[in-house]
Amino acid sequence: MAEAARAKVTDGEVAAAEALTSVRHGEGPRVGFLGDPGCGKTEAMRRMIAAYLRASSGVVLVADDKSAWRQQFEGQTFKDPADLESRIQADPSCLDQRQRVIVFRGDPSRGARGGLDLESVARFQAKLAAKRRPSVCIYDEIDRATVNGMWQQNPSDIAWSFGKGREDGMGAFWGLQQTQSAPSEPFNNSTHMFVFRCVGNPVMLLKRRGYCEGGVDAVIPRLPGDELPKAQRGYFVLLRRGRPWDGLVYRFGAPRVTQKPPAQSAPPTAGALPAM
Ligand SMILES: Nc1ncnc2c1ncn2[C@@H]1O[C@H](COP(=O)(O)OP(=O)(O)O)[C@@H](O)[C@H]1O
Ligand SMILES: [Mg+2]
Repeated sequence: MAEAARAKVTDGEVAAAEALTSVRHGEGPRVGFLGDPGCGKTEAMRRMIAAYLRASSGVVLVADDKSAWRQQFEGQTFKDPADLESRIQADPSCLDQRQRVIVFRGDPSRGARGGLDLESVARFQAKLAAKRRPSVCIYDEIDRATVNGMWQQNPSDIAWSFGKGREDGMGAFWGLQQTQSAPSEPFNNSTHMFVFRCVGNPVMLLKRRGYCEGGVDAVIPRLPGDELPKAQRGYFVLLRRGRPWDGLVYRFGAPRVTQKPPAQSAPPTAGALPAM
């Protein structure tokens, strides 16, 4: 199964370029990452950050408080936006303007999570937008800002950024651990989803939200996943809301292939399904 998928895999950079189309139109990119733990979501987000930095002059704001002892994303590191602002006030040169990735870690000395409020990251992004500075927020676990499908904060600055921020260059790359507690804004306002192997509820949710045109819901549970050694993982499909599946399986780091995704209007064909 894994062998068959490897034979047909397309370079993830092709998917990244497609998912960043909005950046080339001067808009904020909104892209979701879904799939079982250990299948490659965080690694794909890192690749997407690199692709965003190449495609845009914008800033990347990462909420990286998942582990108190292991930082997942590289960048200039602060506790939270308040810490960043007070340090800039004390010493404006504390921020290297050439380094456009800012990582918020919370306070790891406080143990798990470190008390980072994801809403504070969205509020900081809105301040950048007011200064005409495009940016993308990275929420590896956006469901942490929600409870029972609702935003914990009402009104939510994260929800506002999804609903209204696109034209002001406010983007988000987001992932979820618990799909049953997913609020609607990220799904309804994202242009693309990177979907790794998963079964059941997440697939049904994607189908309900209009991301599974072209029969891709039958393919997602059969993608190679965490049964592979870590260095071989990272297979995903690229879904576009209300548009047919392109029939391709992607992976970052895969040998570059000449095959390009078909034009957006091309209808899916049964023969284009990968044999898995
Ligand atoms: N395209 C890839 N190439 C090489 N290793 C990968 C790839 N995608 C994922 N991995 C590795 O697989 C492991 C799990 O990936 P990770 O992104 O942490 O999964 P998730 O965020 O879905 O839990 C990590 O060790 C990661 O480095
Ligand atoms: Mg992860």
